[in-house]
Amino acid sequence: MLLVSGCIAQYPQTIFEPHSDYADDLWGLLQKILIPAAIVFVLVEGALVYALIKFRQRPEHGRPQQVHGHTVLEIGWTIAPAVVLAFIAVPTVETIFKTQAPAPESALHVHVIGHQFWWEFQYPDLGVTTANEVWVPVNQTVNLQETSADVIHSFWIPAMGGKRDVVPNHVNNIWFTPSGTGTFLGQCSEFCGASHANMRARLMSVSPEDFQKWVQDQKTPVGQPPDNAPDTVKHGATLVAPCAGCHTIEGNPLNGNQKVGPNLSHVGSRTTFAAGVFELNKDNLHHWVQNAPSMKPGIKMPAFPNINDADADAIADYLLSLK
Ligand code: CUA
Repeated sequence: MLLVSGCIAQYPQTIFEPHSDYADDLWGLLQKILIPAAIVFVLVEGALVYALIKFRQRPEHGRPQQVHGHTVLEIGWTIAPAVVLAFIAVPTVETIFKTQAPAPESALHVHVIGHQFWWEFQYPDLGVTTANEVWVPVNQTVNLQETSADVIHSFWIPAMGGKRDVVPNHVNNIWFTPSGTGTFLGQCSEFCGASHANMRARLMSVSPEDFQKWVQDQKTPVGQPPDNAPDTVKHGATLVAPCAGCHTIEGNPLNGNQKVGPNLSHVGSRTTFAAGVFELNKDNLHHWVQNAPSMKPGIKMPAFPNINDADADAIADYLLSLK
C-alpha cells in the first residue's frame, strides 16, 4: 500500500515542484542537505547493523572486555557531528537571510488577512479586495503582508515557497516571484478551529495582460444587474439584504460595505467559494445560502431556513452574475 501510494500522478500541494524563486531556494537547500544526510544515514546505520551482528552475544563468549572511555574515539564522535552540523548550518543560514530580507521596492503589495475560516486579499495600490483566490502577474515579485483578524493562521502555497504564520496585531512578510503561470493550491497550516482543514487558498499566476484585465474587472462594480439581465438575476439582487449584513456587494443598493465575511462584489469571477472548499456553481450556492453551517463546520455564517428554494436559486443566479 505504501509503495502504491507513490503512483498517484497528481500532487497539487507538493514542495517538489517549485514555481518561484523562493521555492527554488528551499528546494535547492533541501537537496543540499538531503543527499549528505542520506550518506551519513547509510554509514551510521551500516556501522550499527554491522556491530550488532558481528559482536552479538554468543554462548561460547564469556564476559566481554570491560573498557573505561576512549579519548580518541570520544573526540572523534564529537567533532564529526559538529562538522556535519556546520555543513547544514551554512547554506541554511544563507537561505534564511536571503528569504527573510525586505522585499524589493518594486514588489506588488498584497495584504493577506486570515479569518476563521477564509482568506482576505487586499491590493492597497490597486483598490481591489478579494477572497480565497489571489491573482498575481507571473515574473513580478509579490510581497504578501500577512495579519489575522482573529486567531493565528498560517499561509502556505507550497509551489511558491515556505509557509508563514498569520498572527493578529502583527504583520509578517513573505515575498516571491512566480516563475510559471497556473493555479497553485495551498491551505492554512496552523490549527485555527473547527474548519481549519477547510481553509484553503489558491494562487492564480497569470500573464501581465490577464492580470490587468482582472484588476479592471474587479474595480468595476457589477452589483446592480443591467436591464437586459435575466429576471432571476434581477430578482436575486433584491433578496441579498441578509447577505449585505456581513458582506460587501459593491453596486448593489443594499450594500452596506460590511466586512465580516468575504467581499462578494465579484464572487462570480472565482472558481470556488467557502475558502476553496466548493466549486462555484448554482447548486452549491443554493445549499450554501440556506444552510452554510451544514457544509462547513464552525463558520460564522448562520443558516437561513426562511430562504425558500426559489429565492435561494435567484440569489445563486445573482451571485454567479457578479463577474
Ligand atoms: Cu486558519 Cu488553520
